[in-house]
Amino acid sequence: MVWEWMNKLVRGVGNEGADDMVFKMMKDKYTDNMLMVLSVMKRTSFFNAMEIWMRATQGQALERPLGTHLRLSPWELLALNPVHLCRFPVEDGKKIDTGVTIGPLAEKPLELKIPVYITGMSYGSALSKAAKVALAKAASKMGTATNTGEAGLLPAEREAADKLIGQFNRGGYLNTPDKYKQLDAVEIQLGQGAQGASPQRTQAKFIDEEMREVFGLEKGQDAVLHTRIPGVNSVQDFRKLVKALKEETGVPVGVKIAASHYLEDELDIAVHAGVDFVTVDGGEGATHAASPTAEDHLGLPTIYAIARARRYLNGEGQKGRVSLLAGGGLFTPGHFLKALALGADAVYIGTTAVMAIVSQQMVKVAPTEPPTQLVLHAGRFREKFDADLGAKSLVNFLKVSMDEITAVMYALGKPAIAQLDTDDLCCLDPWVARALHLAYGGVAPSEQEGYYRDLNVARWNQAGREEPQMLQ
Ligand SMILES: Cc1cc2nc3c(=O)[nH]c(=O)nc-3n(C[C@H](O)[C@H](O)[C@H](O)COP(=O)(O)O)c2cc1C
Repeated sequence: MVWEWMNKLVRGVGNEGADDMVFKMMKDKYTDNMLMVLSVMKRTSFFNAMEIWMRATQGQALERPLGTHLRLSPWELLALNPVHLCRFPVEDGKKIDTGVTIGPLAEKPLELKIPVYITGMSYGSALSKAAKVALAKAASKMGTATNTGEAGLLPAEREAADKLIGQFNRGGYLNTPDKYKQLDAVEIQLGQGAQGASPQRTQAKFIDEEMREVFGLEKGQDAVLHTRIPGVNSVQDFRKLVKALKEETGVPVGVKIAASHYLEDELDIAVHAGVDFVTVDGGEGATHAASPTAEDHLGLPTIYAIARARRYLNGEGQKGRVSLLAGGGLFTPGHFLKALALGADAVYIGTTAVMAIVSQQMVKVAPTEPPTQLVLHAGRFREKFDADLGAKSLVNFLKVSMDEITAVMYALGKPAIAQLDTDDLCCLDPWVARALHLAYGGVAPSEQEGYYRDLNVARWNQAGREEPQMLQ
């Protein structure tokens, strides 16, 4: 009875209010109408509007968590090519080989059972110990690797991870033999897609005793990441470092960079320094938190970075010698597959892994708190995070992803991930296809050249100019 009465009242008042608002919007001059706020927010975009107001209100640099919301890589323009007769699908029941070897020429190459691994996300400056352990346990369960990020060596992570890539970093926190000799691969971290080699600082007030110990910090000392690796100020210094790390450890030694238009130049220096792998992080890669300016406007998108890096390595005869690891904005098994076909030897996940480990525990803090507060070292609800449940959730995600990937491998007629290549892809935009050196899916293989010739002629005509000799 009371409920019915309440229901009638709310509906009545709500209805009245909505009518008034709509009439007011329709009647009032635009300049005097709240509708203009929607129009301005559409013009600036919701996020830009909010960030203008946040900068203006807070008066300090914004630190946006988990990367850009811009979609910089048009993965939806790529289509995988199923086969039936021109090549037969893989016989069902035949096991698809999903294994990957990182640094095949290293003394102790890193063998992964699946081509997806957990990227470097630092303990302390970013994630809590429990979150790092959850990531490591899940990686071990799936026979893949996880990565320390720019931190010291966390014993609990080393223990939980069968395969641990460690970042030789710009803070120097893992840069001593007692630490890097405990790793299964060493990644010299020069930069990342979200913010390049920007300097970063974690204030002492967020650093507890355990983190101080892992990072080797004094009480009251901030954790700082410089723009350069301490002691590496020239290409020669870099070469010496790669050589020393390889000789001292025997494990694959590689370098992580933010993808940029200098990609081939940077890869050239790294490859000639003797690295076993290159980690190319696309501009849409995430980070714990960084300025929207860096996250939205810095770096080459992942899709172009992978295609260019693969072409560079093949052109230098480095296919099967120097491994290409890539990531940044890869969220689905479809993204993983396309990135592998485009040329990555293995791909990594950051945001996706964090979202997976909190998936079954978000309700512990929702709807009032963001789920990241469960897994950040400075997270106010980190004590509520159950590492084993987090690990189980990520294992679920990776298992399902591999099931979906292997099912598609049958349809592609490819019995091994290592056999994926650009012939397994076509692109639905002629210019993106050209840039990625992929076939354009709009016309048959035999018509490709003719199509582009016509397209170019059309473009010249449109510009009302005579077509240049070379096109005739
Ligand atoms: C919480 C968090 C912490 C990160 N910490 C590091 C780090 O310490 N070192 C590093 O090279 N990259 C770091 N990254 C970037 C990732 O290694 C990776 O490049 C990026 O997350 C890939 O993009 P994705 O999140 O879209 O998969 C971090 C990313 C996140 C989300």
